Amino acid sequence: MALTLHNVSHFYLERQVLDHISLHIGTGRFCCITGPSGCGKSTLLRLVAGLEKSTGGAILLDGAPVSARSGQIGMVFQEGALFPWLTARKNVSFGLEMQGFKPKVLADLTEEYLSLVGLKQFAEYYPNQLSGGMRQRLAMARSLAYNPSLVLMDEPFASLDAQSRNLMQAELTRIWRETKKTVVFVTHSIDEAVFLADQIVVLSSRPGQVKADIPIELPRPRLRTSPAFVRYREQILALIENSEGTNEW
Ligand SMILES: Nc1ncnc2c1ncn2[C@@H]1O[C@H](COP(=O)(O)OP(=O)(O)OP(=O)(O)O)[C@@H](O)[C@H]1O
Ligand SMILES: [Mg+2]
Repeated sequence: MALTLHNVSHFYLERQVLDHISLHIGTGRFCCITGPSGCGKSTLLRLVAGLEKSTGGAILLDGAPVSARSGQIGMVFQEGALFPWLTARKNVSFGLEMQGFKPKVLADLTEEYLSLVGLKQFAEYYPNQLSGGMRQRLAMARSLAYNPSLVLMDEPFASLDAQSRNLMQAELTRIWRETKKTVVFVTHSIDEAVFLADQIVVLSSRPGQVKADIPIELPRPRLRTSPAFVRYREQILALIENSEGTNEW
């Protein structure tokens, strides 16, 4: 599913948060959005998810307004979006139960997504018995089980240590390639963005404007130490260092 934003602006009371954002993310593409703290990245995801309505502009999924397509959008938040009183298996199946799937289909889907994220052995564990990385994988399984066409992720790996984070990025790349979703992923990490994305959108400080929209043409699996990878990192860092309010990054 392709996502298009036309001149999207947003205000909270009289305070402008987003300023004429225009973007196109093609079907099955992986887009990372980065920018200083407070520039409106989470707001942008909420608008795309249809959780809030933008003050101005249009947000279209395959040409139709987001409000008509909310069932096809999945969202992965930072840690804490799991139900602590349910097992891993129940966390995945809960939303599917709400959607009225037949028991056999529901059970099969639950097992399929638990194994996709490598948590089959941990199906009966509760979230507090899982590591941070496992909890994040569970959150992904829960969102993906609905089979959304567009997945929105807001700094999902921010609380992980550097090694788990790198592993999760590799896992997410694998899952994305297997499931062929369109992904919009917000991150403060340039390294993470270059590792994951087909396209990196850099926003300016508030009100967020599109400062750059850069295609990343690197083969996968990506090697962080390759000269081309390092060149992309340098290019994006230079853009960020030239923006105002870099101390807020
Ligand atoms: N519900 C709200 N009501 C009023 N103002 C809000 C609301 N949500 C966000 N804001 C303001 O909008 C601006 C952008 O917030 P947002 O959370 O989108 O930024 P962000 O880019 O995600 O920042 P961070 O990188 O720190 O997560 C901030 O100034 C924030 O105070
Ligand atoms: Mg945010």
